[in-house]
Amino acid sequence: MTRASGAPTAGRRAGLPDAATPAWLRADMDRIEALLLDRAGSSAHPLVSEASTHLIKAGGKRLRPALVLMTARAGDARGDVADLSAAAIELVHLATLYHDDVIDETDTRRGVPTVHAKWGTEVAVLAGDYLFARGCALGAEAGGEVPGILARAIGEVCEGQILETASLGDAHRSIDDYLGIIRRKTAALFRAACELGAAASGVSGEDRAALVSYGEHLGLAFQMVDDLLDLVGDPDVTGKVPGTDLREGVFTLPVLIACERDASFAQRLAAGHLELEPALAALRTTGALDAALDLATSHASAAHTALETLPRAEWRDALDGMVDGVLLQVTG
Ligand code: IPE
Ligand code: IPE
Ligand code: MG
Ligand code: MG
Repeated sequence: MTRASGAPTAGRRAGLPDAATPAWLRADMDRIEALLLDRAGSSAHPLVSEASTHLIKAGGKRLRPALVLMTARAGDARGDVADLSAAAIELVHLATLYHDDVIDETDTRRGVPTVHAKWGTEVAVLAGDYLFARGCALGAEAGGEVPGILARAIGEVCEGQILETASLGDAHRSIDDYLGIIRRKTAALFRAACELGAAASGVSGEDRAALVSYGEHLGLAFQMVDDLLDLVGDPDVTGKVPGTDLREGVFTLPVLIACERDASFAQRLAAGHLELEPALAALRTTGALDAALDLATSHASAAHTALETLPRAEWRDALDGMVDGVLLQVTG
């Protein structure tokens, strides 16, 4: 397994290859960028605006708004519902990052200090709440199905994050437990992004179901790749601190597979040996990294398959490109 080479450091499109960012998407994404900065940064109080726009200005891949805009092309999206939905889901995603960094006690995100490292835990939690509120306000402005789709997804993310805390430090938790958690904490937002785009475009129920299934499989593959990157990624590319999951006792797919294959590794973890380097040795000798990549690849294939019933078009190629871009982060 090798790292993607030449990817930008904490760049806005890191992990999203040029093939997935055709000109029509770039122009739309620039509008979303302006909307994000406007809605997160419009408080009269400089501290609120600064803390709430901190990670927006730092970069990020903008995968979820890109998904809304790509899937909105599947039909006849009217007005600004797709734009409002795209910005709303990125603000919700940002809110989850603010809170996740407090939970994970990590100091770097998108290549810059996390909000709690810069302003303290109270500001990070409250700015996260503020971003949830700003995202929901955008959703309300969009109207129709948007507030409901967002609210259901936020609930699922919270469920996933709560369930994850309940399995911390458990080297024997099942792969099913892992899958149930990542389906909620991560795939829920990817699925919601596709559902928002489908809803804005007014496609048939069948096409909408295909797009939602694509989003679910992409989200699962995405978190599996993210979990691999936490172990083998280059911090200059990911913009995050490596080994955070292990250090916090979040035993992810490769670690759980290695535990199944090597009982002494599981014992060492249970005894609190959570350092990255020795763990990597066990992950390599057991073949757990490759096995985890295989499962991510099978969900990526399922995402491609879900698109097959949809008409061939540039937006569909972009959705396929997004899947390939996610995998490329670990396959180089
Ligand atoms: C990070 O998501 C949170 C996870 C679900 C792993 P991204 O990797 O999409 O984060 P940004 O938006 O590019 O920073
Ligand atoms: C958290 O997963 C996903 C959410 C933000 C809900 P991770 O903890 O793996 O995300 P990163 O690696 O910190 O971005
Ligand atoms: Mg985290
Ligand atoms: Mg992670």
